[in-house]
Amino acid sequence: MTGLTQRRRDPGEEPLPDDPDRDPPFLDLDRLEREARGVLEPGVYDYYAGGAETETTLAEAPGSWRRWRLRPHVLRGVSEVDTATTLLGSPVDTPVGVAPWAYQAMAHPEGELATARGAAATGSMMCVSTSANHTVEEVARTVPEAPKWYQLYRLHSPEHTADLARRAGEAGYRALVLTVDLPLLGRRKRDLVHDFALPADLRMANHPTASDRPGLSANASATWTFDDIGRFAELSGLPVVVKGVLRGDDAARCVQAGASAVWVSTHGGRQVDPAVSSAYALPEVVTAVRGETAPDGSDVEVYADGGVRTGSDVLTALALGARAVFLGRPTAWGLATGGADGVARVLGGLTDELAHTMALCGLADVDEIGADLVVRA
Ligand code: FNR
Repeated sequence: MTGLTQRRRDPGEEPLPDDPDRDPPFLDLDRLEREARGVLEPGVYDYYAGGAETETTLAEAPGSWRRWRLRPHVLRGVSEVDTATTLLGSPVDTPVGVAPWAYQAMAHPEGELATARGAAATGSMMCVSTSANHTVEEVARTVPEAPKWYQLYRLHSPEHTADLARRAGEAGYRALVLTVDLPLLGRRKRDLVHDFALPADLRMANHPTASDRPGLSANASATWTFDDIGRFAELSGLPVVVKGVLRGDDAARCVQAGASAVWVSTHGGRQVDPAVSSAYALPEVVTAVRGETAPDGSDVEVYADGGVRTGSDVLTALALGARAVFLGRPTAWGLATGGADGVARVLGGLTDELAHTMALCGLADVDEIGADLVVRA
């Protein structure tokens, strides 16, 4: 016996540094996901977390960004870093935005409204899903000044789909994001195991009927074509972003058809599996649209998502030619555990990491990030 006694700690007392219950002084997304798992219904957690088929694409996504290594500059006298940029002309404080993800009211009662407030707090772009639990207008009204994009799925009713596009334009969204990688729903085995059904009282704010969910409608085989890009640009009066492109040839055709931007995405590994990772597809897409102009004469922009989890992942994506990256699941974990503040902590935390890594690499501004910053490991 040493004579040492364990002092009893008061319940309200600050946890000790090695206490597993203590929040770490940095953004720990694995821990946040564990916390979210603790508060969500198991079926809902797996709906958010899961992917299609063997979940190969899902599993590979984070590691795919880390197949590149940074080539930092030195002696450039960088003392301040600016992460601000523009997306299709809209100023944002960070190139880290919120990807459209469905049914956010299952994570938090305020759903998309809370996410929109969180994104606005960090000056991030939010892309609102067709499958939101609040209407196009309700989300727009919550953060009227903040830039937002509206994501469109092809619903069973072409009239209703066209109506959503028009309403997005009228409600002040800055772009229409056509998600083209969901002609029908991927086979998500976790959902099949749970026999997962959306809660009966979940509000389908933008679907004409509860059963008209994207990818489930009777005529799912009647998919969009390249011609729909120009049609939706005209209907909405908005620049069109095509989301879910993984090939250079498709990207070039989207631009020829009137797209202003292309979004490289595997839909978070929830559709085709195994599909190439966004990190792998991004350079090919960037090369295919280089020098192309959008209908308004500006340069075509490229975005990416899928497994972006650290500031250096963001920096790698930007070096590979993405103008912005978007986060899906990390914002779900933030929303489930902390509402708007939780979303802001995730977006702000990743932006801080980006700024820190930029400073270490001698980069003062996102415009200074070029392809020469990375090399394959
Ligand atoms: C999605 N995603 C998605 N995409 C879209 O265009 N419309 C949608 O409604 C949805 N819904 C959705 C629900 C859930 C639960 C997830 C996880 C994802 C795909 C999403 O926009 C994005 O491409 C990925 O989530 C990005 O990958 P990470 O960040 O989740 O790894």
